[in-house]
Amino acid sequence: MPTTRTRVAIVGAGPAGLLLSHLLAASGIESIVIDKRSRDEIESTIRAGILEQETVRVLTESGASDRVTTVGSRHDGVELRFDGQGHRIDFPSLTGRAVWLYPQHEVLKDLIAARLAGGQDIRFETSALRAEGIDSDRPIVTATTADGEELRIEADFVVGADGSRSVVREAVTGASRVGGYFREYPFAWFGILCEAPPSAHELIYSNSPDGFALISQRSPSVQRMYFQCDPDADPNALSDAQIWETLQARVPGTTLLEGPIFQRDVLRFRSFVAHELRRGRAALVGDAAHTVPPTGAKGMNLAVADVVLLERALRALLLENDERLIDGYAEKALKRIWKAQHFSWWMTSMLHVTADASDFDRLRQLGELRSVVESEAGQTYLAEAYTGWLHEA
Ligand code: PHB
Repeated sequence: MPTTRTRVAIVGAGPAGLLLSHLLAASGIESIVIDKRSRDEIESTIRAGILEQETVRVLTESGASDRVTTVGSRHDGVELRFDGQGHRIDFPSLTGRAVWLYPQHEVLKDLIAARLAGGQDIRFETSALRAEGIDSDRPIVTATTADGEELRIEADFVVGADGSRSVVREAVTGASRVGGYFREYPFAWFGILCEAPPSAHELIYSNSPDGFALISQRSPSVQRMYFQCDPDADPNALSDAQIWETLQARVPGTTLLEGPIFQRDVLRFRSFVAHELRRGRAALVGDAAHTVPPTGAKGMNLAVADVVLLERALRALLLENDERLIDGYAEKALKRIWKAQHFSWWMTSMLHVTADASDFDRLRQLGELRSVVESEAGQTYLAEAYTGWLHEA
């Protein structure tokens, strides 16, 4: 079996894996990134689009993406809509921060271009089979290439940035592939992309008696919108007219500007945190380590925060033989992860309507929403969590 040597074997060419290889390269640490998907698939998969200010800082300061600030757009607030009224949460006045709307697949295009320009070895269509020997200082990743050949990557450290179905996680958490804390939700999002002008300049998170809706944007001519649906819903079962009718009913008080729908999908979600984030010479980052419901827009931001911590720890370990930061990686990362889990769960439970909700549940939920928007402290908590907690210096 052909064996390749590198310092860090990174499984997964999503935002976490690519950003990690980028930051490591800047410190002179060489890596190989493998991903089972093709480049085209990675660059065209539609994901969320909100970047925290710290995420934008990391991407721009490291030279990973300039387009985030030129093509992306700064958002200074969001609207919470309930009981027929909108309430704007103003981020800069509450926190001094803002967020940026820039779709994840655009971040990926920027990262792949920057990595390839920097001579990074990225193997697309190469599926990791397993990580082994992580308790030694010569861990190995075994993979299958596009041609069906086996490949062995010998490294000083292995990183699982391979998403919610992580292969590396199995080695890190021990016994089972799942090995983590879970929470399921009884709903999903029906998402659309449409050709229309924006219906609002900022995102609208709406709680209506019929369920949740989110009005987001992509560009002056393309919009992204979602509404709460059954996890088993068939994305093709509704006509365009039914989709617009559902969306309109869920943002009472706002007139949506309609246009041709050119993509639809049903997004199931859950909360997950792996029992272990690191063992020996392997660690997990991004969705391999945790998954959050999309309501708090934390997914990619958490991945970037993990990577910033791990890169620092790997620099100390591989350049100075100092194990202190890698020994503290999981504990440090988990503090932010659980705060983000709470925020994502909270936004989800506050804004969605469960099928079995009683009148009490419904009225309590409105009381909760009022507690947020009518209090500066409540608004500030939402704004701080949404714009993201600062990274440590
Ligand atoms: C999106 O634009 O796709 C989006 C924005 C905010 C979220 C989730 C998704 O909370």
